[in-house]
Amino acid sequence: MNRSGRTLPVAAVAGAAVVAMAVLSGWCDAGATSAFVRKVEKTVDMPLDSDVFRVPCGYNAPQQVHITQGDHDGKAMIVSWVTLDEPGSNLVLYGTSENNLKFLAKGKVHRYRYYNYTSGYIHHSTLRHLEYDTKYYYVLGVGQTPRKFWFRTPPKVGPDVPFTFGLIGDLGQSYDSNITLSHYELNPSKGQAVLYVGDLSYADNYPNHDNVRWDTWGRFLERSTAYQPWIWTAGNHELDFAPEIGETEPFKPFKNRYHVPFKASGSTSPFWYSVKIGSAYIIVLASYSAYGKYTPQYKWLEAELPKVNRSETPWLIVLVHSPWYNSYNYHYMEGETMRVIFEPWLVKYKVDVVFSGHVHAYERSERISNIAYNIVNVKCMPVPDPSAPVYITIGDGGNLEGLAANMTEPQPDYSAYREASFGHAIFNIKNRTHAYYAWHRNQDGFAVESDSMWFFNRFWHPVEESSDST
Ligand SMILES: [Fe+2]
Repeated sequence: MNRSGRTLPVAAVAGAAVVAMAVLSGWCDAGATSAFVRKVEKTVDMPLDSDVFRVPCGYNAPQQVHITQGDHDGKAMIVSWVTLDEPGSNLVLYGTSENNLKFLAKGKVHRYRYYNYTSGYIHHSTLRHLEYDTKYYYVLGVGQTPRKFWFRTPPKVGPDVPFTFGLIGDLGQSYDSNITLSHYELNPSKGQAVLYVGDLSYADNYPNHDNVRWDTWGRFLERSTAYQPWIWTAGNHELDFAPEIGETEPFKPFKNRYHVPFKASGSTSPFWYSVKIGSAYIIVLASYSAYGKYTPQYKWLEAELPKVNRSETPWLIVLVHSPWYNSYNYHYMEGETMRVIFEPWLVKYKVDVVFSGHVHAYERSERISNIAYNIVNVKCMPVPDPSAPVYITIGDGGNLEGLAANMTEPQPDYSAYREASFGHAIFNIKNRTHAYYAWHRNQDGFAVESDSMWFFNRFWHPVEESSDST
């Protein structure tokens, strides 16, 4: 039995000797592998004629609408959409009153080609000088088929600003993806913005990376992405690098469709950047761009971390697609080289939490670091470290590749809780010291928490935390 009274798998019990050693070396609690039993079903993509992929009615109607923060501190929003028949209007009408859209932003429109596919007309427009914590209505498709949406800007950046983030990763467009998104939408603690940890459409699983599946994904997600900002992280399924069909420009569809405000944080690439939202400072890293010493990403992060003012944004959150700590037998050690290079900085600057995807399951770590090794000293095991982040893998959105259900045994001591189920999570910041985190598996009701933890801020309240898994 583990601490919550549940029976652990035999293999976990077999690791008791390792656990005993770990206790001697400073571990106070063994991790748990969930005993939750799910029905094993194949994960299947929704067919092209699914209602969630429906093209909106009307000539040249704007579709695939999505928004993301458009500057560093939340006073701008990037609005993106696609028209299929012709470029149409590139204007966004917007305002704080539904009947008086007195502001106007001009966008840019372009298309791209990928093998034998030509995209629709992709529009991006940045709405600037917005008021904080204000509901804005916006209209696209002016003069042809107007469609109206709305969003709320984040509150003014400050140390005790409450803010709730949704966490979703590796979503894809299967029936399970639809359940994950619906659960997120119906969660009573639904976020005000989504931190998305990479791998979006999984179009690259289709012959010739059929980019029509990028369009269906955009339409599927619109019901959320048009109304609240999603903060994007690039995953391996965004690479779309396919020299066998002449496509040699990495990230081509993603880069054309999903713009992010990377220049506002001094980044030179859309794959690594930062934004401030409420009391949180979000750093997005790129698993599939160079990160070794002297590379642009390395130099950017080296300069970026000292800029974070915890008196302004106490919560320091890192998003990176490929996890650095992962005890599943999938993508094992893929994040290792980046961990070796960046982990000392994340501990030095007391990052609160690192969210990753890539592995199609759920896992939460203890606060641990593995930064003492210097080739000759043999100190190569993770150890408890109150200055280290918690590492959470949330690559369980439900894409067609299915669950990662095979785990390494015994469960490593650094792994606090792991379960191979689809789901999403919520990170609810209360003030500068406390945040409440909960993971929700898709098989449960919308409000049921399958794993939860009170986070204590590493800068303002760096004491030991407690968690609960059911
Ligand atoms: Fe991935």
